[in-house]
Amino acid sequence: MAHQQLSSQSPIVGTEEHEREAIDELIATLPISKGLVRPVHRLYQNFWCPITVLANVITFQRHFKAKDKDIVLISHPKSGTTWLKALVFSIVNRSHLDISNTPLLTSNPHEVVPFIEYKPLPDLDGLAEPRLLATHIPYLSLPESIKRSDCQIIYICRNPLDTVVSSWHFLVETAQLMDEPVWSLEEHFENCCQGEIFFGPFWEHMLGYWKESLERPSKVLFLKYEDLKEDIGGQLKKLAEFVGLPFTEEEEEGGVIEEIAKMCSLKTLKDLEVNRSGKLPGRNFEKRSFFRKGEVGDWANHLTPAMADQLNSIMQEKITPFGLEFKTR
Ligand code: A3P
Repeated sequence: MAHQQLSSQSPIVGTEEHEREAIDELIATLPISKGLVRPVHRLYQNFWCPITVLANVITFQRHFKAKDKDIVLISHPKSGTTWLKALVFSIVNRSHLDISNTPLLTSNPHEVVPFIEYKPLPDLDGLAEPRLLATHIPYLSLPESIKRSDCQIIYICRNPLDTVVSSWHFLVETAQLMDEPVWSLEEHFENCCQGEIFFGPFWEHMLGYWKESLERPSKVLFLKYEDLKEDIGGQLKKLAEFVGLPFTEEEEEGGVIEEIAKMCSLKTLKDLEVNRSGKLPGRNFEKRSFFRKGEVGDWANHLTPAMADQLNSIMQEKITPFGLEFKTR
């Protein structure tokens, strides 16, 4: 597969002026998030969508045509999306891209595997197959063609205690860089518990993909950040098998799995010049903001015991009954 990068000049498909106006009118009727916490969200199809991407999400839903060989990487933000993009890109392209010349050395993983909703529907037809795409959209709101085609979904999930802390750091750092007022962890935490966080409620997001992965295991692979931290080799094998490209004995003996794991590790990616400065094209996010500590259990350094109890009760009530559990340390 050729290194896939979307041109910011990509033609806009199907977003004629009148459709865009109709979408804007629809958006104006949707409930708006009441918290002070940025970014501002609208409640669309029962999830809180950042207004900055909502029009693109609707356009994507209406016009995107999945191909059977597509691989769509999905997550609730701050669950390990950047890591997953680097890993899957490396697995899928390993037959023709050596680690010494992987595009990950010169491009951020978010440039190598694009998010669909961060620009008006780009022209994806020119991309080599299998196309690797990413989104944060909840399962129920995915375009029908993703659900009905034979394309595959890889979902990464992370324990909510750590994602609350991670998302707070990320959003506050982004606000500071834009000279915008910041907000406290307590405010952020309350919003998360109310479900008012980007693409939330987080429990709906996780459960949508969790249930689908149980019903259609060859369609949806459900991964946990904590499992990747614990056994990256085993999880890489699982990923490679899922996309139909299992590691050969020769590759295993030759250390290919370890090479990919090292290339995609937090330390390697964080230290690369390309990820140390500059913003992602067309977005207000610094590339370095995607790489922080990457630890399981960092929540304990930030959340009070009462906050942890509150979040644990939400998980007990909303998630655990469906058989989904997390390691939190
Ligand atoms: P922390 O803020 O807890 O450090 P996302 O990629 O979904 O935005 O998630 C970001 C989180 O994943 C951050 O967590 C970040 O440090 C961590 N992360 C980014 N790249 C990683 C990698 N290669 N390995 C492990 N964790 C990584």
